[in-house]
Amino acid sequence: MAQELANIDEIISKYGGDGSALIQILLDIQRENRWLPREILKQVSQKLEIPLNQIYHIATFYKAFSLIPKGRHLVSVCLGTACQVRGAPRLLDKVVETLKIAPGETSSDMRFSLDTVNCLGCCALGPVMVVDDVYYGKPSAKDIEQIPAAYE
Ligand code: FES
Repeated sequence: MAQELANIDEIISKYGGDGSALIQILLDIQRENRWLPREILKQVSQKLEIPLNQIYHIATFYKAFSLIPKGRHLVSVCLGTACQVRGAPRLLDKVVETLKIAPGETSSDMRFSLDTVNCLGCCALGPVMVVDDVYYGKPSAKDIEQIPAAYE
């Protein structure tokens, strides 16, 4: 935890300790840590002099933030209209079957978290799946089955 808190100091100083950068600060912490533990949010609250409940309000409002631990790799399946029409429900079923977790869940070995999203802005590639920052358009069953071996 001491190491994590050192990083928090670095992130906060990057924004000059300015409370108006709270969302950006939380995004940076989320990116580094993959979730927002209460202890860290308390530190942010003290350092920025922003009430903890205000920080929780923001952390629960935006889907980009997680208040529970996330896996090392985030798999997102788009369920936007264009992807739905192009077979996203079948894609999601295959991902669920392969990773053995449902949307919103994290695998017990903390390797994968699975989420659904509403549109990734690349509808022509649909149905679309993203693993970390890698986009897969119309992934085949084989592409999906290879995910566990490809991502440690
Ligand atoms: S609906 Fe899936 S990328 Fe737009």
